[in-house]
Amino acid sequence: AASPSRSGAFDAAVDRRVERFTESISFDHRLYRQDIAGSIAHAQMLADQDILTAEECQQIIAGLTEIKSQLDEGSFPLRPELEDIHMNIEQALIDKLGDVGRKLHTGRSRNDQVSTDMRLWVRDAIDRIDAALKDLQSAFLCRCELDAEVILPAYTHLQRAQPVVAPHYWLAYIEKFQRDRDRLADCRKRVNLCSLGTAALAGTTLNIDRDNSARRLGFEGVVENSIDSSSDRDYLLETCFCLSTIGIHLSGWAEEWILWSTVEFDFISLPHEFCTGSSIMPQKINPDVLELTRGKSARVIGSLQTLLVLTKGLPLAYNRDLQEDKRPFFEAIDTIEGCLEVAAPLVAGARLKRESIESRLERGFLDATTLMEFLIKRGTPQRKAHHLIGGLVKLATEKTVTLSQLAVEDFQSFDASLDESVYSVLGVANAVAAFQSYGSTAPTRVEAQVQRWKTRLKPV
Ligand code: ARG
Repeated sequence: AASPSRSGAFDAAVDRRVERFTESISFDHRLYRQDIAGSIAHAQMLADQDILTAEECQQIIAGLTEIKSQLDEGSFPLRPELEDIHMNIEQALIDKLGDVGRKLHTGRSRNDQVSTDMRLWVRDAIDRIDAALKDLQSAFLCRCELDAEVILPAYTHLQRAQPVVAPHYWLAYIEKFQRDRDRLADCRKRVNLCSLGTAALAGTTLNIDRDNSARRLGFEGVVENSIDSSSDRDYLLETCFCLSTIGIHLSGWAEEWILWSTVEFDFISLPHEFCTGSSIMPQKINPDVLELTRGKSARVIGSLQTLLVLTKGLPLAYNRDLQEDKRPFFEAIDTIEGCLEVAAPLVAGARLKRESIESRLERGFLDATTLMEFLIKRGTPQRKAHHLIGGLVKLATEKTVTLSQLAVEDFQSFDASLDESVYSVLGVANAVAAFQSYGSTAPTRVEAQVQRWKTRLKPV
């Protein structure tokens, strides 16, 4: 049978090569559930509007339900000559029902159908990714309890900077992934609008009720302008941007833990279920999962780039270029879901190497800034204190000692008014305890944040 999209206007069958070149069934078959749900809602709306009889609507629903079971169990033959999943399903319905099946496409075009299916699919994907992000946040939150007593060096320029309590690190990732969730939630509002009934580009002369089908599909509302929606893919662009920031956050975390798992850092041991070996070097326990997380983020960013270039410079309204949006978009979703699936258990299963961390914690003058602020509190102007502590760091470096190992006289050689009280902020434990400001690593502040996140991430 010729494709239902090939009307009586053609005087030749399509070239085989064109069929292969233009098909999208090989990737848009993933939309079948959404396509069938969309068609059922459309048929019900048509019946409510007396465009179909109740009997015709029932036949269509029954037919589509059968087709769905066949697709679910993999027994539905996908025919590339029918181009896409939408035509495959419609043709199967026509084969079952004859003229009744030929009525389903009333008041709709594949343009609004494709975009509605995609919106439904994206909405589900956003909800799955949100749940996976929440799991990852929860894994970091569990670590906060586990590592409550651990102090870690924190870095700028990958040089030792100031000491922090370990949960402060984990909360940093929880915040990043929360912003990713918030971005997705905001983007979901624009995804969750129904384009069904905007038809090809101009709407339809038939008396359809777009709110009816939108409501049946759980959409928040309908898109306003048919020309806009026929051409619009920015709901995919922004979703893919959200996926890219998730990818970037995962990649930065992966890079950090790859470093931390080296002999040189020796901060963390990764769960062996999440490590791989070497075919030649027997001692190797490699962080491939983290490396692939870092690597796979490239594909997500690549997908965003593809979508941006794909949609730039398209005149209104629908253009066939838009068929090319699906592969990069699906790939971005699959990649992020894949990364998140392994990230949460890896976070939960890792162990901080406390002794190794502690044994080198006093190196790198992590307490220097705290000492500077101690002087500021006693009235020394900041620039003066900054310069003075620099001199003390230089002296300690020459003597190969820590600041806390300098003698009172050493401090007094820089500022005669200094006394034994300097030692109260020296050493990493004292330095951490001295923090105060909101959002800082002050242990009580961090503890309050942990409690806040516990309430926030509580399973509902
Ligand atoms: N298979 C196409 C897609 O996925 C459907 C195109 C329908 N519209 C058209 N004017 N050919 O985008």
